[in-house]
Amino acid sequence: MSASAPQKTLTPAAIRARKGGTPLVCLTAYSTPMARFVDAHADVILVGDSLGMVVHGLPSTIGVTVEMMVLHGRAVRRGAERALLVVDLPFGSYEESPDQAFRTAARVMAETGCAAVKLEGGETMAETIGFLTRRAIPVMAHVGLMPQSVNVTGGYRVQGRGAEAERVIQDARAVAEAGAFAVVLEKITEPLARSITEQVPIPTIGIGASPACDGQILVVDDMLGLFTDFRPSFVRRYAELGEATDAAIAAYAEDVRARRFPAREHTFSES
Ligand code: KIV
Repeated sequence: MSASAPQKTLTPAAIRARKGGTPLVCLTAYSTPMARFVDAHADVILVGDSLGMVVHGLPSTIGVTVEMMVLHGRAVRRGAERALLVVDLPFGSYEESPDQAFRTAARVMAETGCAAVKLEGGETMAETIGFLTRRAIPVMAHVGLMPQSVNVTGGYRVQGRGAEAERVIQDARAVAEAGAFAVVLEKITEPLARSITEQVPIPTIGIGASPACDGQILVVDDMLGLFTDFRPSFVRRYAELGEATDAAIAAYAEDVRARRFPAREHTFSES
């Protein structure tokens, strides 16, 4: 008999029920080992399409494919026991119609074992979100700054300032009404995040959207200092693993060149 009880995996309904409660801890992961680290502390693990930039060196999330999401989603699934696993639908795989979104989401769920998908879009995606949720696909929505839309919205600037605020509020309300179990609010001002959090009945998960949200999410490589191509202003680095990695590899290179590696006690003799 096993000494410890098996971990109970959090469900989309359990995450939704956390509205207004203890803030939800959410992080991305793209591999099994990172998923294990994150799973020990987080409520939600997102296999974000940010993996295009963070893992594959792409200039944006636009070139990410369903195949990439499935590959990383499967890896993360092997390391996730307690946290709810959510996988992003990549650009071009869901926007055309609710039917296309259903086919992609069903494939992603079946092939990765995730329990929910995330997609970007507010009012324009509400019909699709309703279509998916009525067909047993839990959806996490994503409004405010939507990285898949930067070519039409004009870059990665703060969203919802001034008259634009009403549009972001309408987006958040529309996805909540359509049945999303949670909504990511990316890069919006604190008053707007507070107002949306008060207005919608589902948890708001902020990224660069102030502590006024029901939870927070970050790209794990950003907060660990592993992704250094650029640093969003809202990211707090909890470690400098990029610097530590560079120093470790430099030390190894020095040891190899000086014939100090492998150390004597690690070399094999004939007998
Ligand atoms: O792709 C991603 O990682 C995201 C975030 C919300 C972190 O969408």
